[in-house]
Parts: sequence; C-alpha cells; structure tokens
Amino acid sequence: MSIIQVQGLRSLEGEIKVQGSKNAVLPIMAAAVLHKGRTVIHNVPRIQDVFCMLGILQSIGCSCSLDGHKLTIDGASLSQSEIPEEYIKSMRSSIILSGPLLGRTGSAVTSFPGGCSIGKRPIDLHLMAFRALGAGVKEKGDKLIVSAKKLKGADIYFPFPSVGATENALMAAVHAEGVTVIHGAAKEPEIKSLCSFLNNMGARIHGAGTSRLAVTGVKELHDSEFTVAGDRIVAGTYLAAVMAAQGSIVLNGVLPEDLRSALRIAEKMGAEIREYENHLEVSMMGRPDSIDVVTEPYPGFPTDLQSQLMAVMAVSRGTSRISETIFEGRFKTAEELRRLGADIIVKEKKAVIHGQHPLKGGFVTATDLRGGAALVVAGLASEGITEIHECHHVERGYEDICRDLTSLGAAIRGME
Ligand code: EPZ
Repeated sequence: MSIIQVQGLRSLEGEIKVQGSKNAVLPIMAAAVLHKGRTVIHNVPRIQDVFCMLGILQSIGCSCSLDGHKLTIDGASLSQSEIPEEYIKSMRSSIILSGPLLGRTGSAVTSFPGGCSIGKRPIDLHLMAFRALGAGVKEKGDKLIVSAKKLKGADIYFPFPSVGATENALMAAVHAEGVTVIHGAAKEPEIKSLCSFLNNMGARIHGAGTSRLAVTGVKELHDSEFTVAGDRIVAGTYLAAVMAAQGSIVLNGVLPEDLRSALRIAEKMGAEIREYENHLEVSMMGRPDSIDVVTEPYPGFPTDLQSQLMAVMAVSRGTSRISETIFEGRFKTAEELRRLGADIIVKEKKAVIHGQHPLKGGFVTATDLRGGAALVVAGLASEGITEIHECHHVERGYEDICRDLTSLGAAIRGME
C-alpha cells in the first residue's frame, strides 16, 4: 500500500485491539540471539520492521517461524556474527543486534547505520558501553567490528538516556563476567519489557524502569515464552485521531501508564479519558484547546507522538507550541501539513501552530513513519479527500492503519 486516501470530517466511533509494540518486540527479537535454544514471543505485530528483523535473524543462522502473531526463534543454529549490510541500511534499528551478538559470540560485525529523515542517529553511546565492558571497536572500510575475548562487568555512565544504547548495553552485559551497572539508563516501557523478557529467560537484571540497571552475568539462559505489550505509540496515534476527528473510541490491549504523559496532554486539550487496567476510553466533543508541549525522554511527552500532536494542534482553537528536544529532523512533517492549509511556523527546534478548522484535503507525502501517521490524522480533520503518498513508511510500524481506523468509523482506504 503506497497511497492512503482519507475522506475527512467524519467523527470516530468504535473500538479496536491495539497491535503489539514495535519498539518492544524489536529488541526482544534481538535478545533471543543470546540463548542457544527456543524462544516463543506472542502478540508480535505483523509490520515491515518485524519482517526485516526476521530476515536478519535467518541470515545469521537462527531459525524463525511467524505464525499469525506468534513468533518462535531458535538461536541454537546461529552461524555468524556479521549483519549483512543491506539490512543495516534498510532498517537502522538492526544495530540493536550488536549487543546480543557480542554477548553470545564475542564479536559483532555491522556498519554505521547512518541517519534517517528524523535525525543523524549517532551510535557513540552504544560503542562507549561496549568499550566499558572490555570490547574493542574498530572500523574496517565501512564495517564496524566490535569484539572481546571476555566481557567483564563494569559501570556504564550514559550522559543521555538513549533507548537503543541502554538496550544494547543490557544485552551485552547478560553473559559478561561479574556485575554491570548502567547509570543514566533509559526508563521507557520498552526497556522495562526487555528487562522482564531477559529475566524470564534466566538473566539477572534489577532496577527495571529506573535510571540505574544492575546486571549480574549468567552463563546459561533457558527456553521461555513472552507476550509483548500493546504499542503505546500506535495507541497514542489513535488518541490523536479521535481528538482531530472528534467522537468516542475504545482502545483495547494497551496499558494506560505507558502513555500517561500523552493522556494528560489530551485531557488539557479537552479530551475525556477513562483509564482501565488494559484499555482506554477516549471521547472528544468539539475542537481541542491549544497547548504548549516539550518532547522529553520517558516519562515525558514522547517524540514519537510529536508529529501526530502537531496535526491535532493544526485544527485546535488558538495557538500551540512544540519544542522538540530529541530528534532534530522531526519537524519535516510541518511542510506537508501546510499543504493541507495548516498554519505552522518552524524555527530550529520550536514550532508555533495557529489552529484552524477544518483543513483542506490535498496531496501530501509521508517523509517518515510517525510523520506519515500524522498526515492520516490531519486528513481526518480536512474537508474532502486527502491522499498520502509514500505510505511504505507507515507500514514499517502500523500493522494496518486503514483497517484500524475503518473499525473506528473513518472513511479511509489503502491503494497500491
Ligand atoms: C528509539 O530510538 C525508538 N526506536 C525511536 O522510535 C524513539 O523515537 C527513540 O527511541 C526515543 O524514544 C526503537 O526503539 C526501534 P535514542 P533510538 O537512542 O534508540 C541521541 C519510532 O518512530 N543518541 O533514545 O535510536 C540521538 O541522536 C522510532 O518508532 C546519541 O547521541 O533513540 C537522539 O537525539 C523513531 N548517541 C537521542 O539520543 C547514541 O549513541 C535519542 O536517541 C544514541 C542516541
């Protein structure tokens, strides 16, 4: 599906089950490499990034089978520790395999993943963590070779709570000799779920959800089964959808505490939220009120919902402001929203949005995963038809955004 067509100005009504979390399942799939046996993962989202990670695991010798939303990985047949370059280029988050490959085999050969449309995406903190554990890091042509005869537990100090670097450090430390303490660790729900998954297969990690993670190295892991939580960013995207389109929806299979900062922002903008153990009810009657938001590491407002919130602000009453502190390229979507009549001024890391309703349907192009989802949100609050091109970006992280929004009452369809 490379084009999505949205017929705007229909309110939303309905309920759906939110897919499994992309940013939880990718490090968990990588972590399965640490074990010379079988791992079963449930509630796996059927998205392009998962299919890509599956391809990588198979290319290095693991046997994998995805049956519906149940994934079985057997790491016994791992045959190499070099990630084929084409995979790194097509999915930069494959760098998350370097930690488990280093922990399992003593080496990981990858290449610099490079930047993407949302930012430069450096990996210096990942490499700093590997060096702290005793690994050598060298470049050979455009290959990055990380190797260690023996990984020894160490103190790792992150100046910034990088999600990926925390995940790579955790996984490299699982088999290291002695105790590793990660200071300044990321606290995102995806880190907590990785710690639970690793402990469930026999690792010894304490401090999940805090900025101090202690890992006591173990020799062996064992077969395990694990269920991935609902995707908080997909849920947040549909929260934005009902705020832009108005109406009342139920989102099943997501933990409210995983997106608490977004729920508080939504309430300040006029949404009515009812939280339950494993689902959310959201109603929005009338246009949202304006608000000022800063993106921050968890538990702050997530950068992955910034573009979707900008689309809501574009149709809100009054003037809103966003300050983006995580990814310098996230504001690219503002340009596409302007094609729909949005009044947005961007200056460096700040955006000022003068809301107006409705926007005008038109042709726009997705520049990245969450930016594409934001254009769908804007299309729901636009007069006439909005056509969004380059939607392969959206398929990286959304199982089927047209299926989900159709179930919630939207007039939307995917086209080749
Ligand atoms: C993860 O990316 C997510 N991806 C991103 O989601 C998410 O936006 C991000 O965390 C922040 O929450 C996955 O989990 C697959 P970071 P990651 O390392 O790990 C700087 C989506 O849409 N940094 O926390 O790459 C970096 O430049 C994606 O699903 C360094 O300086 O994020 C950025 O400014 C997009 N050096 C900041 O940290 C490093 O070595 C946050 O990056 C690493 C990061």
